[in-house]
Amino acid sequence: MAPVIVNTTPFNDQKPGTSGLRKKVTVYSQPHYVANFVQSIFDVMDGIAGQTVVIGGDGRFYNAEAIQIILRMAAGNGIARVLVGRGGILSTPAASNVIRQYEAFGGIILSASHNPGGPDGDFGIKYNIGNGGPAPEKITDAIHRRTGEISEYRLIEAPDIDLDSLGKARIGEMVVEIIDPVADYAALMERLFDFNRIRALFRGGFRMTFDALSAVTGPYAHEILEKRLGAPAGTVLNGTPLPDFGGHHPDPNPVHAHDLVAAMTGANPPDFGAASDGDGDRNMIMGPNLFITPSDSLAVLAANAHLAPGYAAGLKGVARSMPTSRAADRVAAKLGIPGFETPTGWKFFGNLLDAGMATLCGEESAGTGSDHVREKDGLWAVLLWLNILAVRGEPIGAIMTGHWREYGRDYYTRHDYEDVDTATADALMADLRANLPTLPGMAFGGTTVDAADDFEYRDPVDGSVSSRQGVRVTFADGSRVVYRLSGTGTGGATLRVYMERYEPDQARQDQDAQEALSGLIAIADQVAGIRSRSGRDKPSVIT
Ligand code: G6P
Ligand code: ZN
Repeated sequence: MAPVIVNTTPFNDQKPGTSGLRKKVTVYSQPHYVANFVQSIFDVMDGIAGQTVVIGGDGRFYNAEAIQIILRMAAGNGIARVLVGRGGILSTPAASNVIRQYEAFGGIILSASHNPGGPDGDFGIKYNIGNGGPAPEKITDAIHRRTGEISEYRLIEAPDIDLDSLGKARIGEMVVEIIDPVADYAALMERLFDFNRIRALFRGGFRMTFDALSAVTGPYAHEILEKRLGAPAGTVLNGTPLPDFGGHHPDPNPVHAHDLVAAMTGANPPDFGAASDGDGDRNMIMGPNLFITPSDSLAVLAANAHLAPGYAAGLKGVARSMPTSRAADRVAAKLGIPGFETPTGWKFFGNLLDAGMATLCGEESAGTGSDHVREKDGLWAVLLWLNILAVRGEPIGAIMTGHWREYGRDYYTRHDYEDVDTATADALMADLRANLPTLPGMAFGGTTVDAADDFEYRDPVDGSVSSRQGVRVTFADGSRVVYRLSGTGTGGATLRVYMERYEPDQARQDQDAQEALSGLIAIADQVAGIRSRSGRDKPSVIT
């Protein structure tokens, strides 16, 4: 069957951000919008014809419509076989696993991660390469260039495929295989973790709450936590994926995961609480009346990973994104393994994982993962915590406190200013950058600036250089402030300000992070003039 060639003209806004092309559904549903972007991917990915490609998404509004378009286009571009999660569903880490397990050429993941969904919400398309990870910048840049030149796309005209029934169908020559989205992923988790010990933990009365935020992890959590690990029914909250996430903002942080926070606070809360995001790659970890900051979670997981069968041989290295606190570095140093600092964006971990230089990776933005796939993995982090809790037999609060006593505590907070006028945010960052040479030596609130730079990363594997990755200001007392603009938002600009201070004194490690950092928070505002320039008197979200 010959493909139909459709003439088109470029859209000028198809530049992928930190994690794929995220736009409002209203933008994506314009005629040719999906097709232009997907054809640009196919055009850039030389050799994709004749290959297997994985397609799945987080089930948000427009997921199924986009998949039907992409399937017809895949057939038109000579793809031999497409694997699609049933119902069009694959969590991002599960998609990464399917790409690797079936040795696919790559995958197209439909998600806007933790951004709200629904007709007025966000949608996104991301391309992952054959290692299962997000395409590196040289590919996303090439895709972006292609979107600016595109004049036609190809498809095979065919009726919609039934995405809800397992099995095989065809579009032209191309085979469409609808697969169980959960089975392969659950089997992988059983190989990595000691399910017997975790089952025994639950049998002993251990109580947990997992909030799936009406997003993609519901089916995975029901199957793994309740069915395979024997946690009581009701452990999983909001476990049915809904196209608009039931109105939830599917971002697992103390503001948006309010059902979890409510369950974990007050008298007699469960022993352990967790949540994941829209597409299942983020995690939030709580103990009774305790929020564990993602930077600390990474450090504790690194220090204890050997307690899980999949990591019993030890870690090759630990990597963190630059704005993530330095707590993980202290663990790496003690273990005598390398610690890496990469720019924000999971794609920067791919080379380190492929080269066997790092085993565990993590980001302050609630992402943790390992070399088992090439995406961060929300449920994986929850299961590693459960494995550690089962083996150590101590409450999570005691494990966290014990960690601080051993390594010292890196007090940490991130303040987000969302939906700031783009020109204002750009000017704030430009002025900060312009002031970098004069900042060292300047005094602020009793301390002085020690060093200030714009983070630049040279990938140790392929030598590629990524510049302008965030302004870092470190002070004489070792504390640090980082400023950067989010690369994942879809409305205005989001300014992120990350602040941390190391506290080695055991007697002073149990303060509230906002109080412990209040001096630095004030300094961060002075250095950049956040309040005066943005007109905001407080951040929109504090994590
Ligand atoms: C996505 C990426 C992460 C990144 C995060 C924050 O979740 O997968 O790797 O850390 O976005 O990005 P942003 O640019 O919004 O701070
Ligand atoms: Zn996500």
